[in-house]
Amino acid sequence: MQRPITLGEFIVENQKDFPYAKGDLTALLSSIKLAGKMVNEKINKAGLSQILGKMNSENVQGEVQAKLDIIANDIFISTLKARGEIGGLASEELEDIVIFDDDIHKDSKYVILIDPLDGSSNIDVDITVGTIFSIYHRISEPGTKVTQEDFLQKGENQVAAGYLIYGTSTMLVYTCGNGVNGFTFDPGIGSFFLSHPNITFPSSGIIYSVNEGNYIHFPTGIKKLIKWMQELNTEENRPFTARYTGSLVADFHRNMLMGGLYLYPQGSTAPKGKLRLLYECNPMAFIAEQAGGRATDGEQRIMEIQATELHERAPFICGNSEMVSIAEKFIAENK
Ligand code: AHG
Ligand code: MN
Ligand code: MN
Repeated sequence: MQRPITLGEFIVENQKDFPYAKGDLTALLSSIKLAGKMVNEKINKAGLSQILGKMNSENVQGEVQAKLDIIANDIFISTLKARGEIGGLASEELEDIVIFDDDIHKDSKYVILIDPLDGSSNIDVDITVGTIFSIYHRISEPGTKVTQEDFLQKGENQVAAGYLIYGTSTMLVYTCGNGVNGFTFDPGIGSFFLSHPNITFPSSGIIYSVNEGNYIHFPTGIKKLIKWMQELNTEENRPFTARYTGSLVADFHRNMLMGGLYLYPQGSTAPKGKLRLLYECNPMAFIAEQAGGRATDGEQRIMEIQATELHERAPFICGNSEMVSIAEKFIAENK
């Protein structure tokens, strides 16, 4: 039997097919792979090593930080800094961009944005969490320091995006703009192997994922869409199934494999929803589109939104194409 290809082998073999990939994007993906393995190891032992629970600190968005949020953030920063491919990074956990201002980074071509630990409220209860990353070509000149503008690019400029999902098994799923591939970690060997080649959304799906506890705050179009999904409107003449973990990575991953719609809409108390455009919405939108799905804020394609702040939020509706179109119709008819 032929053994499956490893992530390292896949990246090298496919370099020529990716519009930007040269050696340094390959090296950057290797650093992400290494940091992912290190975070995975911490998460698996979290209950034993006194790293569950909260810090006495909040992140820039006023959210309580979990110990593993900080540990994952530090692991990704130190691993990415150890090599010269990026001129700096932005993290959901840090107020400002981090500039790598030294000789090995000055000629870098890329910047990266990370959500080091997504779904961190689920850590202490043993539910799937993830890491999300988004990579851009810098627009400032190599040889100079990166600037905030390098990070405030539209999502459509992403050269690669992906996530690690620390679930029943750990996977790395990513795109370089040429389809989406998923690799499962074999902890005995210490390598990721290609397990999900060329992932695409099923053409239809019957799952919806939304924090329905916020229902009272949702716009009328979203309320009507939810009620519609609870009626007999699927091909099988049954209601949709609700599935929501509170980890975007887990909810997105399930819906991409099984078919479904993820919603984090705006509400009367959160005018732009909760998810962060740069760390969560853009990378997931890139992956969704590369898998044949779509992502919108209800009116505009996510990847066409021009960010003005590092930590801005956006309403997020994402899933198989047909379902996103139905959601847009409900929103347009109920303005
Ligand atoms: P993070 O842990 O990185 O702050 O992200 C949490 C996000 C996202 O993963 C999830 O879909 C959403 O917050 C859940 O929010 P609610 O608890 O409001 O449903
Ligand atoms: Mn998150
Ligand atoms: Mn996070």
